[in-house]
Amino acid sequence: MFLDTANIAEIESVLTFKWVKGITTNPTLLAKEQGQSRANISREILAILNENQRLFIQTTGETQAEMYEDAQKILSKDARITIKIPANENGLRVITQLKQERPDVEILATAIFSVEQSYLAALAGCDWVAPYINRMENQGLNATQIIADTSALFKKLGLPTRILGASFKNTAQITETLLAGATDVTIPTELVKMMMDNKLAAASIQTFNLHAKGGIC
Ligand code: G3P
Repeated sequence: MFLDTANIAEIESVLTFKWVKGITTNPTLLAKEQGQSRANISREILAILNENQRLFIQTTGETQAEMYEDAQKILSKDARITIKIPANENGLRVITQLKQERPDVEILATAIFSVEQSYLAALAGCDWVAPYINRMENQGLNATQIIADTSALFKKLGLPTRILGASFKNTAQITETLLAGATDVTIPTELVKMMMDNKLAAASIQTFNLHAKGGIC
C-alpha cells in the first residue's frame, strides 16, 4: 500500500512500516503544504524514502506539449519517481509518447472514473491506473463494480497494468476496493491510523493492560 499525502510529518509517522511501498502526491495535496514548491517537497520526501519505495508525482499542464515538458522535468530528478498523468486525450498521447521513447519509465494514469479510461491507459502502456473511489461514489457510480470490471478486463486481455485504488474517505472503501480486484491502494494517513487504532480493540487492550498490572484477577 501507499500513503496519499505530501506532508512530511505525516509520512514520517508511518514510513517505518515496511508495508508502505511509497507516497502518492497530486497538485491538491502539494498545495496543502503552503509556501513550499513541488521540487522542495519532492526532494524532502525522496530523502526519507528507502531505495525500494516510490514517489508518485503528477504532471500539470493542459496541452500535450505542456504535460510532456513537465513529465521530463519530473523524471529528471530520481529513478524512484513514478510519473502520474491524467487520463484524458492529451494525457493518453503523452503516455504513448513517453512509453515509446523510454519504455523503462514507470507511469500511472490518474483521475480514472471508468473502465474505459483504464482500458485505454493500459493499451497506451501504463504500469498503473488510479481509479478515484470516493469521487466516483459521490457521483452515484458503483466504484466496486468498476474496479471488479477493470480487474476482470485486464485479466481477460492479459494486460499487466496494476490497479491502484485512490480517493478514499472511509476504511470500508479500502477493503471493498481490494476485494473487488485492485492490486494496490493509496490511503490518506488519517485512515491508515484509523485502521491501526481500532476503537473496539483499544478497549480490550486497555483491559488487558489493567489486568497485567494486577488491577483485577
Ligand atoms: O490519489 C488521488 C487522490 O489524492 C484523490 O483523493 O480525496 O482528493 O478524492 P481525494
